[in-house]
Amino acid sequence: MCGIVGVVGKPARDVLLNGLKNLEYRGYDSAGIYLNDLQGHQYLTKAVGRIKNLEAKLTPDEQGVVGIAHTRWATHGKPTVANAHPQYSSDNRFYLVHNGVIENYATLKNKYLSDVEFHSDTDTEVIVQLVDKFAREDNLPAFAAFKKVLNLVEGSYAFLLVDNTEPDHIFIAKNKSPMMLGVGDGFNIIASDAISVLDQTRTFIDLHDGDVADVTKDKIVIEDLQGNAVDRPAKELDIDPNASSKGTYEFFMLKEIDEQPAVMRRLAQDYFDGNNVKVDPAIVQAAADSDRIYILAAGTSYHAGLVGKNLLEKYTGIPVEVGLASEFGYHFPRLSKKPFFIFLTQSGETADSRVVLTQVNDRQLPSLTITNVEGSTLSREATYTMLLKAGPEIAVASTKAYTAQVAVQAILAKAVGEKLGLQVARDFDLKHQLGLAAEGMQQLVDGKEKIDELAKKYLATTRNAFYIGRGVDYAVALEGALKLKEVSYIQTEGFAAAELKHGTIALIEKGTPVVALINDPATADLTRGNIREVQSRGANVIVFAAKEFAQPGDDVVLPQIEYYLSPLVTVVPAQLLAYYASKNKGLDVDKPRNLAKSVTVE
Ligand code: F6R
Repeated sequence: MCGIVGVVGKPARDVLLNGLKNLEYRGYDSAGIYLNDLQGHQYLTKAVGRIKNLEAKLTPDEQGVVGIAHTRWATHGKPTVANAHPQYSSDNRFYLVHNGVIENYATLKNKYLSDVEFHSDTDTEVIVQLVDKFAREDNLPAFAAFKKVLNLVEGSYAFLLVDNTEPDHIFIAKNKSPMMLGVGDGFNIIASDAISVLDQTRTFIDLHDGDVADVTKDKIVIEDLQGNAVDRPAKELDIDPNASSKGTYEFFMLKEIDEQPAVMRRLAQDYFDGNNVKVDPAIVQAAADSDRIYILAAGTSYHAGLVGKNLLEKYTGIPVEVGLASEFGYHFPRLSKKPFFIFLTQSGETADSRVVLTQVNDRQLPSLTITNVEGSTLSREATYTMLLKAGPEIAVASTKAYTAQVAVQAILAKAVGEKLGLQVARDFDLKHQLGLAAEGMQQLVDGKEKIDELAKKYLATTRNAFYIGRGVDYAVALEGALKLKEVSYIQTEGFAAAELKHGTIALIEKGTPVVALINDPATADLTRGNIREVQSRGANVIVFAAKEFAQPGDDVVLPQIEYYLSPLVTVVPAQLLAYYASKNKGLDVDKPRNLAKSVTVE
């Protein structure tokens, strides 16, 4: 949720500010930076709001060759300067940035720090004050004091710690929160996300949970919490740095919407050998051996899972359950005899999903993470991984990762169905369909002005809106509604079209926008009936209909594609509608209020 970056061994200020700007999508309610020039000067600056506010507060003399910085998504305490990170010990010796949540901070505070006066409401301050106490009272060097504290801590963390009495070191620790260690020539750099510091290095060490390290400009010592040496290899990351730049776009969200046809083509290329689907045989076997598939996810990924259920059931014949990870983790249902778990997660870091995966691993059950981030926590911890290959997704609202999730589930469904000898899977010309999806998406993004007009006409002033659909359109209605509400702040609900009349239709009044989705052959006429119901109560209806069901006056005619894959195209105008509704209101489309890209707290 929060973003952290630290550097030792080179002029730190600009490196940290750039890193923070690249990480801002992880959280952006306040930010802070600590610099030490190794000449006896240290500087701490913090600001509420965006990184630009922090930048404006920094004076020219605040420079250093060691520094740690943080952009925050508040969990403990309001977004204020006092609660922004770095947090520090009362004697100004230790400075700490933290991503994660310390569950037993109150216990630690009461047990060890009753005599300390706190200056923030954060769980993080407890940790830095405790390191200071152990260093002083037990006469421990910083690294030892830090490890002593870590052995008492319960919760998730990526920590960067600087001790002003040995400021050429950054001490770091990781548990359940992402952190990468970048290796430079004469310097080292630490960040919650490698993408944020790709301009500094391409060589990274992937730290594991329980790792602690002492990092200086030309040395890295990694240990476990018991002090045993740990060897973690460095590897070159193969990421296109342009993929994380906006280019000529005003916002990442539109760039990422526009990239979807290319993502479909890449998937059709990488997961096929000629026309034959190509998935790791071990994954296919494990799924084919199961008697039930459980898909776990959150938010947009959950909506992609609802579509995946239809695809997997149709092409594999295996029953599928889709669960919200945050619910499933604490209310495990009675499982089938041979379950197979799929974790859908763009970031691979979502804490709610990880809670379920941990339990799945405790029970030694097979699991697959479908993610966009190679080496992410859920990828590492699941039995298998399939990659979304969508390229970095920077806008907080997920777009291309959603469509990639739908496509990768279809790929898996075909591979498993073929393995099970099902004719329906053999007949599923998925490569061709992905080509149609790419063409259809292109046609839709090329017609984006029309969607901009719809947003201007119907969404400029409304306070609420609805999406309705049946079958897989219902799943897309949920996603369309989430997209619209998260970036435009218009309260939007996604509904199974027929359900409105069972109560919610009471909310329809003159001018209420209702977006109706029509792809389902079984219910296209019925949905038309539901449209008439809301129209006769004054709703402004926007219709996205598949070519074969389209009628004169429909707003968007969706290009032809097989019904179960129709979300790949239906979602595109929904994403664009959200984008324009937000942009036309002058909002920061990429960074909606209160949100963060990667939700690493439960
Ligand atoms: C909404 C959005 C979120 C994420 C959710 C899960 O646009 O992006 O709803 O889908 O937080 O995140 P991942 O997929 O990273 O597990």
